[in-house]
Amino acid sequence: MIRRALIPFTVLMLVTGGLRADEIDGSLRLAAERIAVSTCATCHGPRGHSIAPKFPVLAGQHANYLLAQLQAFKAQTRGDPDALGYMWGMAAPLDDTTMAALADYYGRQRPEAGQRGDPALTARGQQIYQQGDATAGIPPCGACHGPHADGTGMYPRLAGQHVEYLMKQLRSFQSNLRNVAIMHGIAQVLPVHDMLAVATYLQSLGP
Ligand code: HEC
Ligand code: HEC
Repeated sequence: MIRRALIPFTVLMLVTGGLRADEIDGSLRLAAERIAVSTCATCHGPRGHSIAPKFPVLAGQHANYLLAQLQAFKAQTRGDPDALGYMWGMAAPLDDTTMAALADYYGRQRPEAGQRGDPALTARGQQIYQQGDATAGIPPCGACHGPHADGTGMYPRLAGQHVEYLMKQLRSFQSNLRNVAIMHGIAQVLPVHDMLAVATYLQSLGP
């Protein structure tokens, strides 16, 4: 299904690690797009606009972050049961070059806002996201993920992401099934109703 043969031999010869965006040439872009359309779109939707809320939106996500996640699935260090069940097998046959080209492809797609939710919940979510909650020890998410939740570099974009996926990740950070120290500390102090509030706010945000 995912064929390394799609990648020109010369490119494979030249590359050992991840690629910079300006190193991804036309044929590599085309190869990545073919894999995205024929394989990844089954779950992540056309151009990374997934429909089912279990599958994360990839459109407009940062290429650096996407590449790091694909490498973590392949190395089997992102260990949530859904990561294991769906993505370990997907990432296994991909080499670094192909992963970088796929990350670049999704990074270039235009993100969209998701559905709006309950207004009171959204308002509470906005408050947590922008200001945090000092008494509960919750830092403002925007300090790292950006004031518009569009992220930067290794801080993922959260705007427009599905509530269900966001909730699942926060719980996985909490239990360390997805083992990331920064987000573990934050998820530990985030009560479940605030998780839902912040996820509801984030889903409604557009580009
Ligand atoms: C059979 C369904 C399925 C297919 C096909 C699939 N994925 Fe996924 N993908 C998932 C699920 C489910 C998750 C969320 C895992 C979790 O909850 O930790 C995910 C997560 C991801 C993430 C992490 C996103 C984030 O925000 O952290 C990336 C990147 C990704 N997939 C890329 C791909 C690429 C590239 C392909 C094609 C080669 C692909 N996926 C094919 C189901 C799929
Ligand atoms: C100190 C910086 C920092 C703060 C503050 C922060 N985050 Fe994060 N967050 C990160 C980093 C770094 C990652 C990427 C983790 C990785 O590499 O897997 C991340 C990942 C995430 C993800 C996973 C996204 C995906 O696509 O899978 C979610 C959800 C998330 N953060 C939500 C939040 C929320 C909600 C808050 C506020 C309550 C918050 N974060 C505050 C640094 C931060």
